[in-house]
Amino acid sequence: MAVVHLGHEVALRELLRTDAAALADAYRTNRARLAPWEPLRQESFFTDSGQQSEVDALLEDRGAGIAAPFVLVHGGRIVGRVNLSGIVRGAFQSANLGYWIDAGYGGRGLMTAAVDAVAEIAVRDLRLHRLQAGTLLRNSASQAVLRRCGFAEIGVAERYLRIAGEWQDHLLFQRILAD
Ligand SMILES: CC(C)(COP(=O)(O)OP(=O)(O)OC[C@H]1O[C@@H](n2cnc3c(N)ncnc32)[C@H](O)[C@@H]1OP(=O)(O)O)[C@@H](O)C(=O)NCCC(=O)NCCS
Repeated sequence: MAVVHLGHEVALRELLRTDAAALADAYRTNRARLAPWEPLRQESFFTDSGQQSEVDALLEDRGAGIAAPFVLVHGGRIVGRVNLSGIVRGAFQSANLGYWIDAGYGGRGLMTAAVDAVAEIAVRDLRLHRLQAGTLLRNSASQAVLRRCGFAEIGVAERYLRIAGEWQDHLLFQRILAD
């Protein structure tokens, strides 16, 4: 399996079936920090068995060719993730991009390196043409990552995703990969 070294002893690799317990641990550690940026989660989401169901569903989506899930690892810990979801083929060849990093690893350029690495995998291995990402209007850190990775602003989509229990406006970005 391809492993991309991102710096600071952190690497990006594909999600494995055996990652559930480490992911549950990471979600428990980052629960309060991620809450404003994510959908409301059931209590079971933060348990090992809940994460096993999430991982199994994602790996099924990967098998069906509609998702490409990755994790950021430091030693045995999972310290972040990057997901390509909603892969559409045909005339679109596009995927949605999502990501987060553990509080202790932010601000070191790691997510910028991870998004760049996944964009490279998306064009080289998955033969995608385009990635799209949506950020809450106030998520300056995420917008900085996208701009640095060559994403261009599309515009504001009103009430686009239900985040933290509210349908919230998002700033949409895209990156055309092959150019
Ligand atoms: C967004 C996130 C993934 C960024 O990860 P990261 O590893 O810290 O990102 P990087 O270090 O590669 O780059 C961060 C950039 O944002 C800037 N930044 C960090 N915090 C910021 C803030 N509060 N306001 C404005 N810019 C900020 C950094 O300065 C850097 O940009 P620069 O180098 O051009 O100055 C991380 O903050 C996170 O996990 N946030 C919570 C979840 C989330 O928002 N996910 C994305 C949903 S769209």
